[in-house]
This record gives sequence, structure tokens and C-alpha cells, in this order.
Amino acid sequence: MANRVLFAFMGFEALFVIGGIIILVVALLTRAALNGKQNLDNVANNLLLSQGPLTAAIVNAVFVFVTFLLCIPSIAAPTNRTFLKAHGYAVMCCAIFTLVVGLDIWFRTLNTRANLATVWGNQTTETQSLLQQRFNCCGYWNATSPPFVPDNVCTSTLVAANLQGCIGPFSSFANSLNSMIFTADFGIVAIDVFLILGIACLLKDRKEKERYALIDAKTGFGPI
Ligand SMILES: *[C@@H]1O[C@H](CO)[C@@H](O)[C@H](O)[C@H]1NC(C)=O
Repeated sequence: MANRVLFAFMGFEALFVIGGIIILVVALLTRAALNGKQNLDNVANNLLLSQGPLTAAIVNAVFVFVTFLLCIPSIAAPTNRTFLKAHGYAVMCCAIFTLVVGLDIWFRTLNTRANLATVWGNQTTETQSLLQQRFNCCGYWNATSPPFVPDNVCTSTLVAANLQGCIGPFSSFANSLNSMIFTADFGIVAIDVFLILGIACLLKDRKEKERYALIDAKTGFGPI
């Protein structure tokens, strides 16, 4: 019984640290991609990911790693409960942090069309043109507002007027990317919750063992 509780705890601990690694890798790859050259394939992804809470995600991952280190003394000292409790509270803080990051991304999806209009407006004509080619569209709301950038897709005013504005395809792309990210993020929060439950079980287990050890010591049986 005791081992099962400990193994479950260690399993969730492993998932917890893997979640932290995933957060860190995604944030760092995004950082790197933003410094690289934009092309047709990555322009939409990069533009959207650059709007995300990248720094918060990196800080979150660092919190997860520090919290993970706190579990080592509680495994090394199998009867200790103080470290384990501190570890539990730290996991709770990480979970809240990750939840807030996820909610932040989720709130953006509620307001995508208006947010993207600002993002679009802040881009150079090169980037706008890449987006037009990526989504086969001209201008943001429509070809005239704001005016399209002449390129391979929007070759003339007439052609541009017959193509849709980028708002439709760009915002649905943004919404599916954001949903994927916040779903993964909430998945990590769920792992944190399981880990907290695992810690609670292990604490209870250790408390009971301590009690039995005391009783055994009093009655003169078993190890002290
Ligand atoms: C383009 O969009 C703007 C803003 O939504 C609107 O005022 C304008 O009438 C539209 N033009 C065309 C040709 O649909």
C-alpha cells in the first residue's frame, strides 16, 4: 500500500516536470523563431505566439523546476512531512501560475478579431503581404480597409476586391492555435492537481505510519 502511494506520487512528479519542460521548450522555440527569418510557413504562427505571455511561461517553467527539486528531500527522507508539505504548497503555486497563463491565452480568443486588427496594423507591409499570401486574402477587414499590399495574391485592385479580407481566415487560424495552446496548458494544470492529491495521500500515509511506529514503540514491538 505504502509503495503504491509513493509510486503514484513519483509518477505524477515525473509528469509534473515533463509539463515544465514542455512549457519551457515551447517558449524558447518561439523566442528563437521570432528572431529568425519570417516566411510563408511560420509567419502566422510566429506573429500569434509572439503575442502570448512568453516571459510568464518561462518564469512558470523555472518555478516548476525549483518546485520539483523540493520533492527530492521528501523522497530521500521517507518519514519527513515538512518538506513534503512545502512541496505541496509550491506545486499549488505552480498550478495557479499555469492556470493564469492559460486563462490569459483563453481570454485573447474571446477577442481575437479586434486584437488581430491591432496586430495587423503594427506589421510591416512585408509581413502583411506574407499573411495575405498565406491566407489568400487582401487587406484586414477587406481589400480597402486597411488598403491591401500589392503582391502575388493581390495583384490589382480588381483582383483584391474579389478576394476576402484576411480577418476571417486569420482569426480562425488564431483561434484554433490558441485553443490548442490553452487546452494543453489546462492539461498541465490537471496534472498539477493530481500531483497535489498524490502529495496529500502520501502525507496521510506517513502520518499513519508515524502513529503506528509510536504505538509499536510503546508496546515494545517492531522498530522504533
Ligand atoms: C470595408 O470595410 C470597412 C470597415 O469594416 C467598411 O466601412 C467598408 O464599407 C468595406 N468596404 C467594402 C468595399 O466592403
